Amino acid sequence: MTDPTPGFSFDTPGSTLVEWAGAARMGELLGGWFAARNVLIVTDKFLNDAGVLDAAKASLAGHGFTVSVFDDVVADPPEAVLTACVAQGRAAGAQIVMGLGGGSSMDIAKLVAVMLVSEQPLAQLYGIGKVTGQRLPLVQVPTTAGTGSEVTNITILTTGETTKMGIVAHQLYADRVLLDAELTVGLPPMQTAATGIDAMVHAIEAYTSRHKKNLLSDIFAREALRLLARHLVPACQNGQDRAAREGMLIGANFAGQAFSNSPVGAVHALAYPLGGHFHLPHGLTNALMLGPVLRHNMSVAAPLYAQLADVVLGPSDEGVQARSAAFVGFMEDLMDRSGAPRRLRDVGVGADSLPMLARDAMLQTRLLQNNPVEVDEAAALSLYRQAF
Ligand SMILES: NC(=O)c1ccc[n+]([C@@H]2O[C@H](COP(=O)([O-])OP(=O)(O)OC[C@H]3O[C@@H](n4cnc5c(N)ncnc54)[C@H](O)[C@@H]3O)[C@@H](O)[C@H]2O)c1
Ligand SMILES: [Fe+2]
Repeated sequence: MTDPTPGFSFDTPGSTLVEWAGAARMGELLGGWFAARNVLIVTDKFLNDAGVLDAAKASLAGHGFTVSVFDDVVADPPEAVLTACVAQGRAAGAQIVMGLGGGSSMDIAKLVAVMLVSEQPLAQLYGIGKVTGQRLPLVQVPTTAGTGSEVTNITILTTGETTKMGIVAHQLYADRVLLDAELTVGLPPMQTAATGIDAMVHAIEAYTSRHKKNLLSDIFAREALRLLARHLVPACQNGQDRAAREGMLIGANFAGQAFSNSPVGAVHALAYPLGGHFHLPHGLTNALMLGPVLRHNMSVAAPLYAQLADVVLGPSDEGVQARSAAFVGFMEDLMDRSGAPRRLRDVGVGADSLPMLARDAMLQTRLLQNNPVEVDEAAALSLYRQAF
């Protein structure tokens, strides 16, 4: 007899539409989904100026929507961005909130949808399950294939100078997700690589997570990794490659569904201090820490890495240790081929800052507890040294 399957729960947005150029039908789509006709689009200035929103805006106007665009989102958004966005949404009488952009824009959109109808002050929302009350209708439209924020129940805000804090709540799951890969064709190769590796890390860490890993998160993680491994380099080499862009966007979405239910571990825990202190993009910080953390975790996670080797390399008769090593080697080779910077010294991180980073990483207890192998401060320092 085999062991019974432990019980689990799996949550995700109720509806996802995958449609190339779907944003050009935004008015028709939203008109069918909701009765309200006043939309707040949450995005950043670069995307707005580059015309990435134009098709959606034109379609919404053509279908009788009043549209207000908040384009002051910045990477790793601070609390002030959220407050300004809520104020604009309130003044505009927003009835629907749409995140249209990368993880930063979508993260802000989720929380704005809550705060436009909630009396709870922001300070009370940090942590897990602290949001009471409801939110406005929420639509998420990613323009990077990375964070999977469109399907997660997490918003990450920068609080103070360097610290990032998370708000995790069921209300942050969107009502509707549109995956229009045409919106991602302008993402430059380096950002395609970094955000794509972030998505791969989501899949890997969800697959090896210590507490909530389950049958469904495993399915999403494996299929995410298969798609992302196949399409990352083609998407970096030719941004116009439609199949590669679609594969990446769906892969990142699946990885998001995996880690929203089976949370990430030490790669993210060690990546966050790098983002906070050196203002490096989230995906890049993950790419820098992935190799050392994979090797650190092999003592316990080798059987799972061996299974992931089958996903990205195909089946083999090799033993578990050899397969696990093959998986780690595959990921390191893929990162080399993607063109992403690979060492901390290459991105302006000084050797003298490594002890401070290791100390800071210990604050990420929410993530470290999910890692298959314990990471204490000494181990963190060793991992930063290996990444240096
Ligand atoms: N909620 C979650 O589950 C979750 C998970 C991981 C990370 N995050 C957060 O997400 C953020 C990172 O998101 P991100 O990596 O998507 O980047 P981002 O949203 O911070 O955007 C980075 C840059 O890419 C540009 N960009 C985005 N789409 C583009 C396109 N199609 N063409 C050209 N340029 C484009 C943006 O203008 C911006 O300058 C961080 O704030 C991080 O904390 C959230
Ligand atoms: Fe991430």
